[in-house]
Amino acid sequence: MPDLAWNKSCWDSDYDWSWRGEEWSEAWGGSEAQWFGCLYPRLHRFLPVENLLEIAPGFGRWTRYLLEYVQGRYTGVDLSLACVDYCKERFSGSSNTTFLVNDGLSLDSVEDGLFHLVFSFDSLVHANLDVHQVYIPQLLRKLSQNGVAFIHHSNWAKSGSTQGNVHHRAEDVSAAAYAQIVQEAGGHVILQECLNWGTEEKIDAFTLFCRADRSVLPETLLIENTDFMREASIIRAVQSGYTKIS
Ligand SMILES: C[S@@+](CC[C@H](N)C(=O)[O-])C[C@H]1O[C@@H](n2cnc3c(N)ncnc32)[C@H](O)[C@@H]1O
Repeated sequence: MPDLAWNKSCWDSDYDWSWRGEEWSEAWGGSEAQWFGCLYPRLHRFLPVENLLEIAPGFGRWTRYLLEYVQGRYTGVDLSLACVDYCKERFSGSSNTTFLVNDGLSLDSVEDGLFHLVFSFDSLVHANLDVHQVYIPQLLRKLSQNGVAFIHHSNWAKSGSTQGNVHHRAEDVSAAAYAQIVQEAGGHVILQECLNWGTEEKIDAFTLFCRADRSVLPETLLIENTDFMREASIIRAVQSGYTKIS
């Protein structure tokens, strides 16, 4: 199980960050194609955004794109000092960015009620349920009244996967368990997409949620997506070509 100690030692010292995480975008033909083909279509209704909080930016693979749409303040929080130091340097040209190191649990150093979008992708899939139990109530407090959180997390516990856990997914997390924590913390789940990340089974999920006092509370939409990697291969085969034009 990828607990906090595993995450800390993996990302803060053991992992070779020479490629800044770009290597994880190969199935999409690069991070630019993955952003515009996979992430932007899921997020575009919330962009541009005033203030954005990114949980676990790593070496800034998504920060680089997100900053194009931030009109106010960007805050990134990561448990790895190596990642935070790298992002501070990489994005030093942007005056509106703040990168903070945390213990993998506390968001006390982040202002409450400020963020119109909370984003986390390809990071909290390695976070066990106990981490989400601590993070979710805090994320709801960080959101502005009409803000939304888009969080990529594990669905391993529901996936029925019999293959080895080669992607180091948190094994005790399911989309349903995540939604239950959101509801118990006083939030509202807008959408959940369960998806087959690099596998046949739907080992991952995206959850989009908001505060229960948001002015519009859409009925919860559940999407079961077994074509996530097919989407990736189409993006790689077709769209990524456009990202190579100089
Ligand atoms: C696989 S990397 C992905 C980084 C980035 N999101 C990307 O897609 O390139 C995982 C990141 O999550 C961070 N991380 C893991 N668990 C965390 C936690 N509980 N709180 C904050 N950061 C965490 C790690 O330090 C690392 O930077």
